[in-house]
Amino acid sequence: MASDKITIVGAGNVGATTAHIAATKHLGDIVLLDVIEGLAEGKALDIAEASPVQLYDSNIIGTRDWEKTADSNIVIITSGLPRKPGMSRDDLLTKNVQIVKDVSEKTAKYSPNSIVIVVCNPLDAMVYAAAKVMGFAKNKVMGMAGALDSARFSYFLACELGVSVEDIKCVLMGGHGDDMVPLPRFTSVSGIPITELLNEEKIAELIERTRKGGIEIVNLLGYSAYYAPAAGAVKMAEAILKDKKTVMSCCAYCDSEYNAGGHFVGVPTVLGKNGVEKVIELNLNESEKAQFQKSLAHVKQLALKVDKLL
Ligand code: LAC
Repeated sequence: MASDKITIVGAGNVGATTAHIAATKHLGDIVLLDVIEGLAEGKALDIAEASPVQLYDSNIIGTRDWEKTADSNIVIITSGLPRKPGMSRDDLLTKNVQIVKDVSEKTAKYSPNSIVIVVCNPLDAMVYAAAKVMGFAKNKVMGMAGALDSARFSYFLACELGVSVEDIKCVLMGGHGDDMVPLPRFTSVSGIPITELLNEEKIAELIERTRKGGIEIVNLLGYSAYYAPAAGAVKMAEAILKDKKTVMSCCAYCDSEYNAGGHFVGVPTVLGKNGVEKVIELNLNESEKAQFQKSLAHVKQLALKVDKLL
């Protein structure tokens, strides 16, 4: 059986780490692509040279040539400028929309049947831009943010409660920004709602840390996170390639769902071989609905900016 083929666009920290994690998980052959001469080639060779130690057989190549990406099953778009201290994700929009436009045109040309996972920021707006340029079916274009934000929330909860990260299951919605909506009512430790285990103040504190999770790393490093974002992107790719029907939050197209009116925003989904196979509609209470609508309004505002730039 032919291997699945995964193209990762952008060989910076997120792209190269995504390639390495995907290789260690034996997800398929990997093409790492970047516009900077030698960057993708060097990172791919380094990852390939780790294969005798880490025991993966996939073909891993680095290139600047889009033809080598042809007929990929999955394209993960990580290219774009990352945040620096003092910047919001939204500050990246004008520059990154042009990069995403170019990459999306090439993705549509070389891998018209692929499923696309966008990782660059501002996330929800970049997914919108990619989907608009590519014109793919809406279930085949999505963004990685929920996996990262849920992972951060889960990690903070596991530390606070002194339990295994494996036992935390959480649901988080909204845009990938400061107004994202972690949902404590739908978050549990092996089925025990966290509202039974932590008081409101503590939960609010951990939600706030989750919302600011990206900037916490930017302030420490001087540039943005990449291990957790890459792990999130690979989890999505794995769900799709192995048709796992994984239930996880991601930035997905919603029309009547949550009254989103044709926008890409973070929601709980089922991911399988057809991409986003289902958006799970939760019966949100008034406060949750209001938080989600606030976040959605921000996502819509950025989509309007994208429309002006494309
Ligand atoms: C973060 C960036 C990658 O949340 O958006 O770390």
